[in-house]
Amino acid sequence: MALFPALSCPTVQLSNGLEIPILGLGTSHNGGYSHDAVVYALTECGIRHLDTAKRYGCEEKLGEAIEESGLLRSDLWLTNKLWPGDYGYKAAKKACLDSCTAMGVEYFDLYLMHWPESLKVGSSNREIRAETWRALEDLYKEGVCHAIGVSNFLVCHLEQLKEDCNVVPHVNQVEYHPFQQPNRLMEYCQKDGIVFEGYSPLAKGQVLSDPVVQQIAKKHGRTAAQICIRWSIQNGVVTIPKSVKKNRIQENCQVFGFQLDEEDMVALGNLHDGRHVTWDPTNVD
Ligand SMILES: NC(=O)c1ccc[n+]([C@@H]2O[C@H](COP(=O)([O-])OP(=O)(O)OC[C@H]3O[C@@H](n4cnc5c(N)ncnc54)[C@H](OP(=O)(O)O)[C@@H]3O)[C@@H](O)[C@H]2O)c1
Repeated sequence: MALFPALSCPTVQLSNGLEIPILGLGTSHNGGYSHDAVVYALTECGIRHLDTAKRYGCEEKLGEAIEESGLLRSDLWLTNKLWPGDYGYKAAKKACLDSCTAMGVEYFDLYLMHWPESLKVGSSNREIRAETWRALEDLYKEGVCHAIGVSNFLVCHLEQLKEDCNVVPHVNQVEYHPFQQPNRLMEYCQKDGIVFEGYSPLAKGQVLSDPVVQQIAKKHGRTAAQICIRWSIQNGVVTIPKSVKKNRIQENCQVFGFQLDEEDMVALGNLHDGRHVTWDPTNVD
């Protein structure tokens, strides 16, 4: 029997057969990092999916938290991301291996290109994306990354990658909450077998005071955060809320014991106003 029972958390199957837990814990440099909160999420809440990025500056600390949890590497789903400053074939391969070393792991379950725009001069974004993706394809073949994907990619970026490369991304991680519902992109991903993962499910807290969300929360005797996370999961979206507070992490995990009604889903679906709370890739060519 496992030392710490896992959350009874459904998974979503990737096109290569791997199963990603539909709920994960986000991490970030913005708003701080809490070692105790990550250990708590793993040992007390049953979280098995952690999302991070080199950019967030907490890879070493996360590695320490994983070690302290005492969990087996094989029981965890770890997602990391490649920063555009490391784009290009050689730099990408090195950055991935360096990130593995920083976190004290031999592989990532999922490794993403963080952003569609390159920071390098001299080549087009499309050329650099393709060159970088070939490095991820090789890391995938070598087993350093068990799945590979992209983040903040729009349909045009995915179409170009399909023309230029061989492996279709397993995942696209994109901003997703009631105010930001990129439905055409979601449909495209579904059609192409790309799992849609949503970040900032609470719109960084902005959506929690929305009257429609609050009214649905009252109806179900749940919190506004639970309603937003449940809505995202109920739409089949892999969801990664972030908190550095133990009580909120616990709260954000209690989303499997109830269902939103059809009318709730429609009401939340109508809240889209197109706002981004993080960054907007619309003008990246
Ligand atoms: N790929 C990308 O480009 C990208 C971009 C942004 C984010 N992400 C990923 O997605 C994760 C989540 O996104 P995010 O951090 O931007 O936004 P988020 O999860 O929508 O919101 C996080 C904010 O909400 C607060 N919060 C969390 N749970 C709460 C609760 N139950 N009640 C009230 N407030 C609560 C947190 O504060 P406390 O921490 O103080 O509780 C924090 O300020 C990140 O950690 C990261 O892993 C990826």
